[in-house]
Amino acid sequence: MDIMTRIAALTAECISTLWPEAQGLPSAEELRGLLAVPPDPAMGDYAFPCFRLARPLRTAPPKIAEALCEAWSHGDVASVSPVNGYMNFFLNRENFAREIMETLAAAGDRFGSSDEGKGKTVCLDYSSINIAKRFHIGHLSTTMIGHSLKRIYDYLGYTTVGINHLGDWGTQFGKMICAYKKWGSEEEVARGGVAALEALYVRFHEEAEKDPSLEDEGRAWFKKIEDGDEEALAIFSWFKEITLKDAARVYDMLGVSFDSYAGESFYIDKMEPVIQELRDKGLLTQSEGAWVVDLSEDDMPPCLIIKKDGATIYATRDLTAAIYRQNTYHFDRCLYVVAYQQDLHFRQVFRVLEKMGYSWAKDCVHVSFGMVSFEGAALSTRKGNTVHLEDLLSQAVDKALEIIREKSPDLEDKEAVARQVGIGAVIYTDLSNNRIKDIDFRWDRALNFDGESGPYVQYTHARCCSVLRKAQDFSAAAPDWSALTDDEAQALLRLISRFPDVIRDAADKYEPSMITRAVTDIAQAFNKYYYEHRILDGEPAQAAARIALTDAARRVIRTGLWLIGIEAPERM
Ligand code: ARG
Repeated sequence: MDIMTRIAALTAECISTLWPEAQGLPSAEELRGLLAVPPDPAMGDYAFPCFRLARPLRTAPPKIAEALCEAWSHGDVASVSPVNGYMNFFLNRENFAREIMETLAAAGDRFGSSDEGKGKTVCLDYSSINIAKRFHIGHLSTTMIGHSLKRIYDYLGYTTVGINHLGDWGTQFGKMICAYKKWGSEEEVARGGVAALEALYVRFHEEAEKDPSLEDEGRAWFKKIEDGDEEALAIFSWFKEITLKDAARVYDMLGVSFDSYAGESFYIDKMEPVIQELRDKGLLTQSEGAWVVDLSEDDMPPCLIIKKDGATIYATRDLTAAIYRQNTYHFDRCLYVVAYQQDLHFRQVFRVLEKMGYSWAKDCVHVSFGMVSFEGAALSTRKGNTVHLEDLLSQAVDKALEIIREKSPDLEDKEAVARQVGIGAVIYTDLSNNRIKDIDFRWDRALNFDGESGPYVQYTHARCCSVLRKAQDFSAAAPDWSALTDDEAQALLRLISRFPDVIRDAADKYEPSMITRAVTDIAQAFNKYYYEHRILDGEPAQAAARIALTDAARRVIRTGLWLIGIEAPERM
């Protein structure tokens, strides 16, 4: 039982001893949730606000705080004092240090992990790139938020299924084949990759302005894909292969992988029964020649299922995909990590599933996020103002290499470290704010080794490793935990002790940035400790305690970085 849980349990006990008759009291678990960490450590290590007790106890909060503090007695807590309706707890610092260090030692490299998700499955739909389009910065957030959430849920014991719901269906692919047949060549596309496909698509639109009959030709090619025409399918699957090969380089740089690439085209032959089901359940209505599910009761525009020309759309495939995923994986939750622009789409799809009678519709969650701009400029594919992720990542690596050459000329393997640092800097930036906030990517901030950045946290980790390399002679002494009772050590210990709660919160709120925040705070607290204290000096038993604390910081930072998809080099 951790210290917060114990304080909460003891507080609950104390309350029921003083007020044995009271009704409607919060549970010990609820009390734990109310325990806060005062911003100023002079106010205690933890504070319990008594306001929630005022009604059930029919007593003013300051009076409650006084009575509880008066009655309180327990060894873990050195003292407790009532201040303005709060109980301020001051821990026994040595016990606190010992307890955390023992918990960490027992947890090994899995501190903060749990098996609370055992037997439960989470599907995560993320990255979900589009065929024949280059991987640009607009797909960075979905890729990294999804990847991080997958690791977080894995760490909490869930079974996870990472799905790249490829955008590989639509009339644009007919146009692309048409353009390829007219103006493209095999060598050119093989050489140019997705960029060559994009160029063909642009050419198609330019030419179609002059000659509208091209649109019909494009449609005819799409019809061929739909009808399973051999040539059309061969070209189309080649385009797909090219796109995935290009994307694989980016995924490789980012360390991201998937369990399934079942995209939109995967559902083409699975939609008919779903449409029939909608019809049988009386949910389909005709509207201007199209078939829709009316959602006016829910204040939403109708969800389009079949267009006037008989074609299905994005939403039809998402409905089918959700049902398929439930039948295949029996998910307890299905997360869709997709930009906020698709908010209405997912609300419609989830509502239609509910109307179909699927109670698990409530387990589908749209995890939305804001936009990324680059050095202050908004990005838009249409204006050609995009930043390709592969270029961005390579540039980040080059810039990191330059900085490393200057700062650490003797470092071995500079290229490998620069890769970890450069890419880490991009990922950190992406996951450094609440996901719903827009992000402005700036080089000077991302690669600032002294500010709140990926390199800063990685550097702190490497610093811990370096201290530990020098500390090997001390490993024999049994640690004296009284060496960790100073303010800096305690501040660091407090942050470490809360790390498991942070992971759980990040999972509950689908918010990897909470972990980014926590590792940054821990890195800052460690650096403060490092500047104020000489870790390897003095009594061996005391040094052993400080070394153990350094190792604790190292491990928690490493785990935290791993959970957000960032590597932790041992030397920088
Ligand atoms: N391919 C889509 C896009 O780039 C995202 C797909 C998200 N997933 C889904 N099941 N709709 O906008």
